[in-house]
Amino acid sequence: MLRAEARRGLTSLPKQLPPKWFYDQRGSELFEEITRLPEYYLTRSEREILLRRADEIASLTNSESLVELGSGSSEKTTILLDALVRRGSLTTFVPFDVCLPALQQASAALAREYPDLAVHAIVGDFDHHLPLLPRQGRRLVAFLGSTIGNFDVDHRASFFAQLGSALAPGDFLLLGTDLVKDPARLEAAYNDSAGVTAAFNRNVLRVLNRDLGADFVEDQFQHVATYDGDRDLIDIRLRSLQAQRVNVGALKLVVPFAAGEEMRTEISAKFTRAGLQDELGTAGYFLVRWWTDRAGDFALSLWGV
Ligand code: SAH
Ligand code: TRP
Repeated sequence: MLRAEARRGLTSLPKQLPPKWFYDQRGSELFEEITRLPEYYLTRSEREILLRRADEIASLTNSESLVELGSGSSEKTTILLDALVRRGSLTTFVPFDVCLPALQQASAALAREYPDLAVHAIVGDFDHHLPLLPRQGRRLVAFLGSTIGNFDVDHRASFFAQLGSALAPGDFLLLGTDLVKDPARLEAAYNDSAGVTAAFNRNVLRVLNRDLGADFVEDQFQHVATYDGDRDLIDIRLRSLQAQRVNVGALKLVVPFAAGEEMRTEISAKFTRAGLQDELGTAGYFLVRWWTDRAGDFALSLWGV
């Protein structure tokens, strides 16, 4: 799958790479570092909302299982788990992620912390493996961290529709989304002064070198992240600092880059309440609750089907 997607992305114009390849073990560790950066307010804002609303979420949903998509370290998720355990409804936690090392580490820690909970980790790709989600009981599907913002609008539509058809009445979706705000703050969150985001972005080149025998030189690519106010998204690229040719051994492909040529690695869409209601409404969901942090930077929303 990496091969086909890499070939398609590297031979299209403009070039682009599939973002989930950021998340090998090193990528997941770098992302954890991002969540602690002073500029990256998203994780702290979402945690603030969870701390204030977790008991309300537990009583509104009364869920028997919590499924977490793109769970990563599941660090914030313990706030929800605690509330659902206090409520007494929860029996099962299902973390679902494409990154096996992150999943293994998180599941082991959670199994120790919550000995009475069944932890069923699923390694998978939420673009292909949503039908693998367990079907029994009242389920709460959490999709946190504004990971939904890494999908473009068409991808979001198909994702919401596919997830919706896997949900039944009485199930809920809990969605974390970063909100439209001052572009300077948005850009700062993706251009930290310590350079962690740049290292995270360039990590995708290391993955291609390792898994596809490519010979990208990391230093030859500059991290670029700018806000596109027309489309309300942070556009994240790698810019080739000079004209160069990169060999991708496993694809028998030589990829020419012009000096200054940019390759898209990720987008991070920013949302409004009206926009989300539109998108999820079209996919057949109804809004149950909408919460933000006190500063109004980030939203957590609960949806029924
Ligand atoms: N939920 C955590 C982590 C967010 S980072 C938080 O809020 O902090 C995004 C997570 O999604 C990573 O753990 C990454 O491995 C996972 N991910 C990215 N693309 C994925 C895909 N296509 N399928 C499944 N998981 C994916
Ligand atoms: N879901 C995160 C976000 O959109 C992922 C992320 C944070 C990211 N920083 C990044 C992705 C830098 C690529 C590059 O905020």
